[in-house]
Amino acid sequence: MQEITTVAAMRAFAREAREQGRRVGLVPTMGALHKGHLSLVERARAECSAVVVSIYVNPLQFGPREDFRTYPRDLERDKELLRAAGCDVLFVPDDGEIHVPGHRTTVEVQGMQDVLCGRSRPGHFRGVTTVVAKLLAIVRPDMAYFGEKDAQQVRIIRRMAGDLHEEARIVSCPIVREADGLAMSSRNIYLSLEGRRAAPVLYRALEAAAALARSGETDASRLAARVRETIAREPLARIDYVETVDGETLEPVTTTRPGLLLAVAVWFGRARLIDNIIL
Ligand code: PAJ
Repeated sequence: MQEITTVAAMRAFAREAREQGRRVGLVPTMGALHKGHLSLVERARAECSAVVVSIYVNPLQFGPREDFRTYPRDLERDKELLRAAGCDVLFVPDDGEIHVPGHRTTVEVQGMQDVLCGRSRPGHFRGVTTVVAKLLAIVRPDMAYFGEKDAQQVRIIRRMAGDLHEEARIVSCPIVREADGLAMSSRNIYLSLEGRRAAPVLYRALEAAAALARSGETDASRLAARVRETIAREPLARIDYVETVDGETLEPVTTTRPGLLLAVAVWFGRARLIDNIIL
């Protein structure tokens, strides 16, 4: 596995790979890798002949009171995992390589960035789309891989890629979960012991709502109510939002239909967890 730290060297590698007729796959991450991330790398490995994984804790997507400083970082462990997963290039840009000193340009996907997580994390998705637009411009991959775990993120990125005439195909990969249903996340380490025990309620609540939908319930507010009731049984959980939205545009819906996205964000102590299910 080759390690690249500059934009110039990353561009050169990707250009050469393209010239050799290799299909380039990009997996953007912020490191602290787990099986969720590795599932994206495996998918890229299966579909592409040059697999690039980026690790960059992007300051632009963290709010002033969020966890940028304390976000988990373990580059040595990440490298071992990526080597084992068959990654060809690890792109770990040095400071100032991605957001150059004096940078003034951002990318926004209006509307979609302000709903769901955007409401409690203003500016977050602008930070995400800005960094992903830059990574796509640097690597110019054929395919770029993202997780359904961050359902809003991948939908916003797909919209951005379409709007900007990006050639990369945006691929969305299924959520990888722990045995008890908790969606894997680098931030799960923020859970206390009690929080970790309580957290699988998210998936149970989403499953309960999906079962209700399968039994014929079409009122979206009743599905959301089922999620809220289930989560309320865990005294540690504090709901940020529970919403049913269009599976592509993220617009709120009142009547359900197949393909809708039911998404939740819930605090357990200082850990804010998100999860979702497609109805
Ligand atoms: P990060 O949280 O490191 O996640 C990197 C990718 O892994 C994202 O596409 C995310 O959806 C996916 N992922 C995380 N947990 C997953 C799980 N349990 N199952 C499946 N996929 C999972 O998301 C980001 O980084 C950043 O916002 C980034 C896109 C890199 C831009 O900075």
